[in-house]
Amino acid sequence: MSKPPILIARAIFPDVITKLEEHFEVDTNQADEIWPKAKLIDRLRGKHGVFTTSSERIDAEVLDACPQLKIVANMAVGYNNFDIDAMTARGVLATNAPDVLTETTADFGFALLMATARRVTESEHFLRAGKWEKWSYDMFAGSDIHGATLGIIGMGRIGQGIARRGAHGFGMKVVYHNRSRLDAATEAECKASYVSKEELLRTADHVVLVVPYSAASHHTIGAAELAQMKPTATLVNIARGGIVDDAALAQALRDRRIAAAGLDVFEGEPKVHPDLLTVPNVVLTPHIASATVPTRRAMGHLAADNLIGFLVHGRPLTPLNPA
Ligand code: DGY
Repeated sequence: MSKPPILIARAIFPDVITKLEEHFEVDTNQADEIWPKAKLIDRLRGKHGVFTTSSERIDAEVLDACPQLKIVANMAVGYNNFDIDAMTARGVLATNAPDVLTETTADFGFALLMATARRVTESEHFLRAGKWEKWSYDMFAGSDIHGATLGIIGMGRIGQGIARRGAHGFGMKVVYHNRSRLDAATEAECKASYVSKEELLRTADHVVLVVPYSAASHHTIGAAELAQMKPTATLVNIARGGIVDDAALAQALRDRRIAAAGLDVFEGEPKVHPDLLTVPNVVLTPHIASATVPTRRAMGHLAADNLIGFLVHGRPLTPLNPA
C-alpha cells in the first residue's frame, strides 16, 4: 500500500524526518527557506498532512487550494498562524505542541527578566566597546529580582512555571492576571494572587507577558498601560509580537517612562521596529524562548507523533479542534 504524502514545511532534526518517513511519503524544505504563500500552496497540493512552525500561515486560501489536506501539525504551542475556524469548517485537524516546552520557556522568561532588570546586555556592549575605565557606584545599577513583585499576565502552564520560579526561587511576591482565575490549589502552589490588570500594572516591579495572541489580546500593552506602570518597572514579552504595541514601547523606553524591557517576540517578526533597535534599555532576542536542543527535538517529535497518530492510527495526541 502506498504511503500517504506529507510536507515538512521547514528544516527539522533528521531523526524527526526519519520517523515520519517510516509512515509517509515525505516532501521536505531542508533548505529552510521561508516560502511565499504561492510556493507553500504549490508544495502542499495533494498532501494529506503538513508539519508547520509558527512561521507558516495556514488560512482559508491555503486550505481551499489543498483540499486533500487532513491535518496541520504545528511545532509550537502557540497557533496564531492558524485560522482554526477555517480548518474546522473544512474538516481539517489542527494540532500544536504543548507541555514539552513549558519549563524551558519559563527558564528563558526568567533569563530575559534577569538580563533586563540587571542590564546584562547593555553593560556587555559597553565593555566590548572599550568604554569601561573605572568602577563607579551607579554603573549599570538595575533593579532587584529577589523580594520584588512579579506581575504575570497570562497564567497558563508557562506563566505558572515563571510564577513558581519567582516565588520559590527568588522570594518574589507574585500577582497575576488571566482570563479566568486559577483554582485555589494552583494559586497556592504558585504562591500567586489574582489581581486586575490595572492593579498588576500599578504594583508590579516586573511584568511578564505570557498570554496567547488573539484579536482580544492584541496590544494588551500599549501607551495607556505603559503609563500605568512604575517608572522603575521592567516589561518582558515571551508571548507573541502584537501583544505589545512596539512603537509605544520604544517611546516609553526612550522617555524612561519604564526602566527597561526584554523582548523575545515582535510585531511583524523577523522585522523589529527600528526604534527598538536604537534604545539602549531593551534586551532583544530572536524568538528563542523554547530553543534548547532537547526541547526543540521534543517539539518536533510531538508534531510528528500528531501526524502519525492521526493519519495512521486516527488518534492525534494534542488536537486543537474537533475536525
Ligand atoms: C511556541 O511554541 O509557540 C514558540 O513561541 C515557538 O514558536
